[in-house]
Amino acid sequence: MSGPSTYVPKSAIGRWFEARLPIAGLIHSSFVAYPTPRNLNYWYTFGGILSLMLVAQIITGIVLVMHYTPHVDHAFNSVEHIMRDVNWGWMLRYTHANGASMFFVAVYIHMLRGLYYGSYKAPREVLWILGVIIYLLMMATGFMGYVLPWGQMSFWGATVITNLFSAIPLVGDSITVWLWGGYSVDNPTLNRFFSLHYLLPFMIAGVVILHVWALHVVGQNNPDGIEVKDVARDTLPFTPYATIKDGFAMVCFMIFFAWWIFYVPNYLGHADNYIEANPLSTPAHIVPEWYYLPFYAILRAIPSKLGGVVAMFSAILVLCFLPWLDTSRVRSAKYRPVYKVFFWIFVVACVGLGYLGAMPAEGGYVLASRLLTVYYFAFFLIVMPLLGLFETPKAVPTSIADAVLKNAQSAKA
Ligand code: HEM
Repeated sequence: MSGPSTYVPKSAIGRWFEARLPIAGLIHSSFVAYPTPRNLNYWYTFGGILSLMLVAQIITGIVLVMHYTPHVDHAFNSVEHIMRDVNWGWMLRYTHANGASMFFVAVYIHMLRGLYYGSYKAPREVLWILGVIIYLLMMATGFMGYVLPWGQMSFWGATVITNLFSAIPLVGDSITVWLWGGYSVDNPTLNRFFSLHYLLPFMIAGVVILHVWALHVVGQNNPDGIEVKDVARDTLPFTPYATIKDGFAMVCFMIFFAWWIFYVPNYLGHADNYIEANPLSTPAHIVPEWYYLPFYAILRAIPSKLGGVVAMFSAILVLCFLPWLDTSRVRSAKYRPVYKVFFWIFVVACVGLGYLGAMPAEGGYVLASRLLTVYYFAFFLIVMPLLGLFETPKAVPTSIADAVLKNAQSAKA
């Protein structure tokens, strides 16, 4: 979509520089002239919000590290020092901790938007798979970050999750010892998690660049799921149309984010993490952060440890195969009445799994987790392939412009 740039800088210095490094032309073709489908709605602003959140996490993280000590004897106290003694330290920490949650809120909306409008379908397979890689990196980053304050949940969460690798036959125990850098979660573990927690966001930034590059090669999908046919009729330039809309959505999201930081900064955390890690005292319930809970429920729904680990990782990896599992020729759920119903049941199942992940793994909770786990996989492996063959989609507009004009006419009537 973004072809060779025709951008010519106005100043002589600009032209001199552009002839040597055409970066202004690249920015112009990608974020000014770039043609965006004219029917994009607010669900399409979450990619921009995610980019903003990534930058916010990196900046607050870098400043936090200036006062944090990655050592088992000092980590917990250094976080308390940030909260009490460092100027604005409490705000930095609350912004970073709640920022992780907001990042996941935005990514789940972004992913579900893709699932609803069929954005993973050809020719956007690579764009989607890069997204899944970003998501995996985000999960790893969040997990390692949670260990750093060295509270009870940090320690016991790390112990439970790293122990999962011991389920791998033959080499599992060796892998776990290798991950720990010893025979339990201890100082070497904290140190390497700190190192990786600092590194991974930059890797995420790298993959995001590939993600946006892939997006600009194939062009954006849109709520009607129709390709751009006539650039003049079907699209609008990114600036000012998308920049203003993205900017407005970012401001709204920041207000929502600020509400968490200033009114309920500890709501999404766990009280036990204000108790320093103690390897001799196991908390009654070890619960991961809310954004991992659906996968934690899937893990515990399977009676065998290895089976649970395989199911949990498969629940994410299955996403890579969606472009080929979905056989429908129509992209957007807007024109797929039956898929729409299954999609919303899927959303409810994910929320349900999230709730169950926070409950003790006993009795009815386990049964419910099993049922919802079956639906989770059936949605991808049975519903998607079969529905595409049997569902009768609604008539799809011939072009993006027609879809917009039809909406405008019905609004007038
Ligand atoms: C740090 C995380 C991420 C960032 C910064 C990011 C950024 C973006 C941006 C800027 C866009 C274009 C605007 C929009 O459509 O909202 C986009 C589109 C897209 N992203 Fe992401 N993304 C991230 C994570 C993900 C994940 C985890 C997935 C899926 C697993 C994903 C899948 C997609 C798809 C399929 C599109 C194209 C949507 C369409 O054209 O309909 N992204 N992303």
